[in-house]
Amino acid sequence: MTTAESYAEFAAREAHGVSPAYERLSLAVSRDDEVLGLLGTLPPAKRQPNLLFGVVRLLGGPVEDPAAFHDYTVANWPAIETEMRTRATQTNEAGRCAVLLPLLAALPQPLALLEVGASAGLCLYPDRYAYRYGDHLVGSGEPVLECAATGVAPPAGVPEVVWRAGLDLNPLDVTDPADVAWLDALIWPEHAHRRARLRAAAAVAAAEPPLLVRGDLVDDLPALAARAPAGATLVVFHTSVMYQVPAPRREAFAEVVRRLPGHWIANEAPGVMPCDGLPRPPGEALHNVLALDGTPLAWTRGHGQAIVWFG
Ligand SMILES: C[S@@+](CC[C@H](N)C(=O)[O-])C[C@H]1O[C@@H](n2cnc3c(N)ncnc32)[C@H](O)[C@@H]1O
Repeated sequence: MTTAESYAEFAAREAHGVSPAYERLSLAVSRDDEVLGLLGTLPPAKRQPNLLFGVVRLLGGPVEDPAAFHDYTVANWPAIETEMRTRATQTNEAGRCAVLLPLLAALPQPLALLEVGASAGLCLYPDRYAYRYGDHLVGSGEPVLECAATGVAPPAGVPEVVWRAGLDLNPLDVTDPADVAWLDALIWPEHAHRRARLRAAAAVAAAEPPLLVRGDLVDDLPALAARAPAGATLVVFHTSVMYQVPAPRREAFAEVVRRLPGHWIANEAPGVMPCDGLPRPPGEALHNVLALDGTPLAWTRGHGQAIVWFG
């Protein structure tokens, strides 16, 4: 896919109906030869819409008006380029816990959670948040994570978590204002509810910081998994990570995780993990696939706002 096509696809399948500002912007970039030319000077993995838009927001640039965005990007390219080369999209969306919860709650308790690609670790607290699946409220904490659930009964309660650890190439620290500013810049412009959620989830994590280890999800997973306590079900999980990992490393990861005790939950785009025989996705919008131990079970939306269990 060319860079222009990937921006058009982002507009149509990710931002459409979710962020009008990013839909407009992404479509404009897909037709903007000057900005596409600048993006073409970056390695392919660094040309993504979320990274460009997040960096421009971090630097205080305009993202509502495509013409103003174009002028700002061209005028400030050296600063934008520097940030894009050094940063990665590390969006940490606690809302994704809402699609993990039906699986986590159904496993033998208590749980030892190990998240690979954990960012700041906000998805490591599924037991501390509350959830609203339609009229059904689960848990009693903050933030309250809203999720439209189809074809799956909401869990009766939150799981019992006795250990939580994260592995990331670049762990972020929710007590560091610079890291929180980057997490904030990665949230899409109109999503005030997600900004509020970030603050609330960051407060939960700051009160009991997770064990976050800097490392690679293949090379460093066995050593971290070995630190999980006996007597708890080890759950290795990842959400929206594998699109950043080259295919041979994804395969190596799957081999490593299959050799570990416990269970493996993946919540990833359909193209990045092997999953045969998927049913048709519910609509044109991009959906992730939720899988347990390699078996795909449900479609989920990117920020955890919906889950559709396979019929
Ligand atoms: C888009 S973020 C998702 C964060 C979190 N899983 C969530 O859903 O909120 C992807 C994270 O994966 C991390 N990552 C990418 N490749 C990795 C690797 N090979 N090993 C460990 N972490 C990796 C990135 O640093 C980033 O923090």
